Amino acid sequence: MTTPKKKLSSARLTQPTNAFVEEFTASVQFDQRMYQQDIEGSIAHATMLASVDVLSEQECEQIIEGLNTIRTEIDNDEFEWSIAQEDVHMNIEARLIALIGEVGKKLHTGRSRNDQVATDVRLYLRDMIDPIKSELFRLQESLLMVAEREADTILPGFTHLQTAQPVTFGHHMMAWYEMLVRDAERLEDCEKRVNSLPLGAAALAGTTFPIDRELTAKLLGFERICLNSLDAVSDRDFAIEFNSFASILMMHLSRFSEELIIWSSAQFDFVDLGDAFCTGSSIMPQKKNPDVPELIRGKTSRVYGNMFNLLTLMKNQPLAYNKDNQEDKEPLFDTIDTLLGSLRVYADMMAAITVKPENMRNAALRGYATATDLADYLVRKGVAFRDAHEVVGLSVAYGIKHNKDLSELTLEELQAFSDQISDDVFEVLTLDGSVAARDHLGGTAPNQVRSAIRYAHSQREQD
Ligand code: ARG
Repeated sequence: MTTPKKKLSSARLTQPTNAFVEEFTASVQFDQRMYQQDIEGSIAHATMLASVDVLSEQECEQIIEGLNTIRTEIDNDEFEWSIAQEDVHMNIEARLIALIGEVGKKLHTGRSRNDQVATDVRLYLRDMIDPIKSELFRLQESLLMVAEREADTILPGFTHLQTAQPVTFGHHMMAWYEMLVRDAERLEDCEKRVNSLPLGAAALAGTTFPIDRELTAKLLGFERICLNSLDAVSDRDFAIEFNSFASILMMHLSRFSEELIIWSSAQFDFVDLGDAFCTGSSIMPQKKNPDVPELIRGKTSRVYGNMFNLLTLMKNQPLAYNKDNQEDKEPLFDTIDTLLGSLRVYADMMAAITVKPENMRNAALRGYATATDLADYLVRKGVAFRDAHEVVGLSVAYGIKHNKDLSELTLEELQAFSDQISDDVFEVLTLDGSVAARDHLGGTAPNQVRSAIRYAHSQREQD
């Protein structure tokens, strides 16, 4: 197979490009992953040109046939990518001309690489949003499954990483689920703005040909059309917006990972991540390291880095297109890859997680987690909250001194701190009583967890 070595865009230049400059300015090494979208965009463009009689039907057919052949060549790894042809667009166009001759030279009528690349990136991102959505959905599914299974399982809830009040493991899982629901909403919202057609803006000012942008949009499945040609070729907000959705999602996964790392330590020993998601140490035989959550925490910084990369890329650019924009692809692609991998591994890891209810219960018993319940109990008996707070503080101090949880103190011991305490106090001092009592919308009671899960399922069916 031969592709002309002559550059398609260099007639004005009398000297050849410096060999290293050619390599330095090329993007084909990384933008070739958009070949499907580039071909799809070109087919739509040619079809539209034929519909307005800029191309004849026969020319259009030849072009489409040539582009389809090229697609097959690339699919089959038979395409010779060339740095001399700079990017994915020119590689394909040069090959088209080599394949079908003179007619191939007409494809670029009324178009520029500036609107072409903006279209390709949007199409590519749009295509990747679907697999991202399904991995996110799968992770949510895993969380719902664990939440359901562990709706009654009790662990200490923390503030300041100090035991605060008992919560149910199901409730804890549903907290992460809620965050992922917001992430999915952000992705949906961002998708609306990704799905807008730049093609037709040409280099920056539009074209003198009677193009039909509505038709191109329809052929490519774009819901909107970029309404200003200058903005169309230079806008990369959509990529920044996607990256910001990704940053927030990774931040959530990173926080979640932090908990899994703490919980799987020997000191906590609340969960088992499953051998398939951990590795051993080359020197310490006893180790089972939570590599996956650690790596997710680490990869979050890559996505943040890409975010700053894209924002900084845009901040000094005057209208319209500038070559700087070629640098948008690697951070965007890296974010897409990182996100897809992270979601995938997380969905699988959460589906395989097992919990250790005994250890969690013992930890909750050790931390005076039902102290607030005792205070609330006293308030219900007519004691003012501040006074109740003090009574409980003294009871806890006594418990610490005698190495007993509040529920292990005798009625007499408790009554020494307040004569309002009677034997019904033990119902509120147990862990199960404590969580069951928080029985309102958004509370930790197993009852409420189950209803939150039911609601989540009903919302998912609607989507
Ligand atoms: N490879 C370029 C990019 O990624 C395509 C657009 C080039 N346009 C130009 N006028 N040099 O942005």
